[in-house]
Formats: sequence, C-alpha cells, structure tokens
Amino acid sequence: MKPTALVTAGPTREYIDPVRYLSNASSGKMGFALAHALHRAGFRVTLIAGPVDLSTPKGVKRIDVVTAVDMRRQVLIAAKKADIIFMTAAVTDWRPFQRYSTKMKRTRSRGEQAIILKTNPDILAQLGKRKKPSQTLVGFCVETNNLERNARQKLREKKCDWIVANKATSIGSNTSQALLIHKNGKTSTLPQLPKNKLATRILSYVLRGHPRHPEGRGRGGRGQRRAVL
Ligand code: CTP
Repeated sequence: MKPTALVTAGPTREYIDPVRYLSNASSGKMGFALAHALHRAGFRVTLIAGPVDLSTPKGVKRIDVVTAVDMRRQVLIAAKKADIIFMTAAVTDWRPFQRYSTKMKRTRSRGEQAIILKTNPDILAQLGKRKKPSQTLVGFCVETNNLERNARQKLREKKCDWIVANKATSIGSNTSQALLIHKNGKTSTLPQLPKNKLATRILSYVLRGHPRHPEGRGRGGRGQRRAVL
C-alpha cells in the first residue's frame, strides 16, 4: 500500500455577512506544489484547500473548504490515515462572533463599526496532541519579525517534527526562501526558489529516512513508483 500524505493549503475565509469576510493573502501555491511533489514521490495525497484560484495537481484528491472550522473537520478525518501531514494553510486566527444573515448596512454604522471576534481552533496544535509515533507532522509559519525564535516556539508548542519558516514577503509570491527546523534543533536554510522547486527541496529533507517513504529505509520498492527527489 502506498504511504499517505495530507496537505492543507490556502487561506480560510470567515464571513461577517453574506458578502464580506476576514481572510489573508495566502495564494495556496506552496501547499499545491507540495501536494504535486508528494504525488510524484509515490504518496497517495489528500489536499484540503481553502478558497484559491489554482488547479488540482494530477493524481491528488482535493477537498475544498471555506472556514477554519470546516478545515478542522476535514483535516481531523483525513489525518487518521496520514503518514505525513503538511499544515501549509494560512488559517485565519479569528472569526466574527456573529455572522449576519443579511448584508450589514453602511448607513447604520454612523462612522464606526466594531466587530467582535472569536478565536478559531488551532488545527496544527490539535494534530500535534493526537499525533501517532509513526506520523510526521510538518508545520509552517510566516513571520514579520524574530523568524527563527517564533518558529522554534511554534515547533515546540504545536508538537511538530519539523517547521518551515517563511518571511511574510513570501505570501502570494511565486518564489520563497525558507528556514527548515527539525525538532532535534537542526536548522537548514533554503535559498530563494520558485515554490515548486522549494517544495521538492523541503521534501528531500523531510522524507529522508521516513519509514513509509517509497524510497525510505529500503521499504516498498516493488510495484511502487520510484521517488523522484
Ligand atoms: N495553524 C493552524 N490553526 C490556526 C492557526 C495556525 O493549524 N488557527 C497552523 C498553520 O497552518 C501553520 C502553523 O499553525 O502550520 C503556524 O501558523 P501561523 O499563522 O504562523 O501561527 P499562529 O499559530 O497563528 O500564531 P501567530 O499568528 O500568533 O503568529
């Protein structure tokens, strides 16, 4: 049986009323590139995507979601069978406490409008808590400052095996550079690359020695596609 990978990608949208929402500028490109690279490396891939304008990589099963709560529901189901999880999505951290069923009228706000927000679930932290010993969990983070310190803190607190840290300038861009940190403390700096090339480089680190990798530790050779990393 092929090993199984779960990838999340893109932003989530948290609706205020039927036409307005909170979100972020994530394009989903990094997650889609990883899903493609994992398929080519011989994995059965499920890609859970927020609203993005990208076509599904060949051979990948895609599940579309809108909100963080939708994403959590689908992720927790798919994670049960996943050997490796890449939590690339830029989950919106808050949602409006109340979602209006009709459009809010500007004229009623009298110059100011407050929106009360509720904190969304931390999907990666929940995955970290229920992680099986055989599973590999990879978190991502985007930071405007203290990149390495914040990334190490998230790696530890969310119980990841790896974290990939990017500068905020990578959001929506076709290229990115990354700092890759393993839970044992080892850090690698990957150069500015197109996101598909960066995805392949990230996989080559993360899959090295992974027990269920088609090429890892001498298992799963016959009848499976060879890894192309
Ligand atoms: N993440 C998640 N659920 C959230 C927020 C983040 O699963 N509600 C995951 C992201 O998919 C990513 C990692 O946590 O893999 C780090 O996301 P990031 O937005 O950098 O960090 P936050 O935990 O949201 O912290 P902050 O925004 O305060 O920096």
